[in-house]
Amino acid sequence: MRRVVLERQGPPDVLRVAEAAEPEPGAGEVLVRVTAAGVNVVDLFQRSGAYRVTLPFTPGMEGAGVVVRTGPGVTDVRPGLRVAWAVPSASYATHCTVAAERLVPLPDGIADEDAVAALLHGMTAHMLATDVFLPVEGDTCLVHAAGGGVGGLLCQLAVRRGARVIGTASSPAKAKAAGESGADHVIDYSDGRFADRVLELTGGRGVDVVYDAVGRDTFEQGLACLRPRGTFVSYGQTGGPVEPVDLGALRGTLFLTKPSLGRYDPTPDLARRRAAAVLGMVGEGTLRPRIHGVHPLTDAAAAHRAVESREAAGKVLLVP
Ligand SMILES: NC(=O)c1ccc[n+]([C@@H]2O[C@H](COP(=O)([O-])OP(=O)(O)OC[C@H]3O[C@@H](n4cnc5c(N)ncnc54)[C@H](OP(=O)(O)O)[C@@H]3O)[C@@H](O)[C@H]2O)c1
Repeated sequence: MRRVVLERQGPPDVLRVAEAAEPEPGAGEVLVRVTAAGVNVVDLFQRSGAYRVTLPFTPGMEGAGVVVRTGPGVTDVRPGLRVAWAVPSASYATHCTVAAERLVPLPDGIADEDAVAALLHGMTAHMLATDVFLPVEGDTCLVHAAGGGVGGLLCQLAVRRGARVIGTASSPAKAKAAGESGADHVIDYSDGRFADRVLELTGGRGVDVVYDAVGRDTFEQGLACLRPRGTFVSYGQTGGPVEPVDLGALRGTLFLTKPSLGRYDPTPDLARRRAAAVLGMVGEGTLRPRIHGVHPLTDAAAAHRAVESREAAGKVLLVP
């Protein structure tokens, strides 16, 4: 088998492909042949050194593929089954092992690449729009990075619930992607200013919720966009972590939360249920993942550059 290995953390060029022995599935695990692996922002942090990892390290926390063989104690999964998973699994590889309890069977109507494009991004968007702040008809949502992976799917879920969506994006291509995901208005926030425009679009009232993937660069202006008792959802930090917050900034009524998918779905069963819900929506055509680019494993560096440079308007995938 082949896999991407980091011998050291650093720029995208540290992502190199190496030959390796096929891993043996342990108790409760299966060996899968990977057909598509998703690139996520967390992979970039692990590669760059922003997050600590034990070296040598193979990134990858989601993928799709076919079960090759099962380890001891696995009874409900058979070789040949098409599956997807969203769990740290070193899936930047031709093969990897995954805990059987984290596998989601893939319905026939969903292509492997679409499944991966929807899975982790879709589960995050689903958590945000159902468990963290459930938008209802009449609500207005501000969705940052609305031309990105999670942002685009979040727009679709909010619009589907009858909410009005104001998206932000840093380029015309991403603004177009956000519009295609249903955003009613898209603001270019690349100069860091967007609050005045949001207040103008809401007649001075402010939005009901801000879903923020960016962090430091959008925090203050985002708070300024909220109506009294509005909710600020800080779920990512692609622009850097938010500085320590003076609680006075909540103006006596605002709600601030920093949700994590792992904490909302602490058991394999809960994670699998959410994954199945997301794939169900993809299957019925109500959630449409957007694939920005598909790169061979040997070009994982280019895949990371596409996300890091902010060029990617949707999911970036690796295929063996
Ligand atoms: N809380 C959780 O459990 C959870 C789970 C999964 C993902 N996440 C987070 O969700 C966020 C979105 O992830 P994603 O995979 O969907 O990524 P993505 O949309 O491909 O990228 C994030 C977006 O952030 C924007 N951005 C703003 N400042 C940036 C900067 N300095 N560098 C790069 N991008 C910047 C970019 O949009 P513009 O170019 O339009 O600004 C970019 O498209 C990430 O912060 C990720 O860590 C959180």
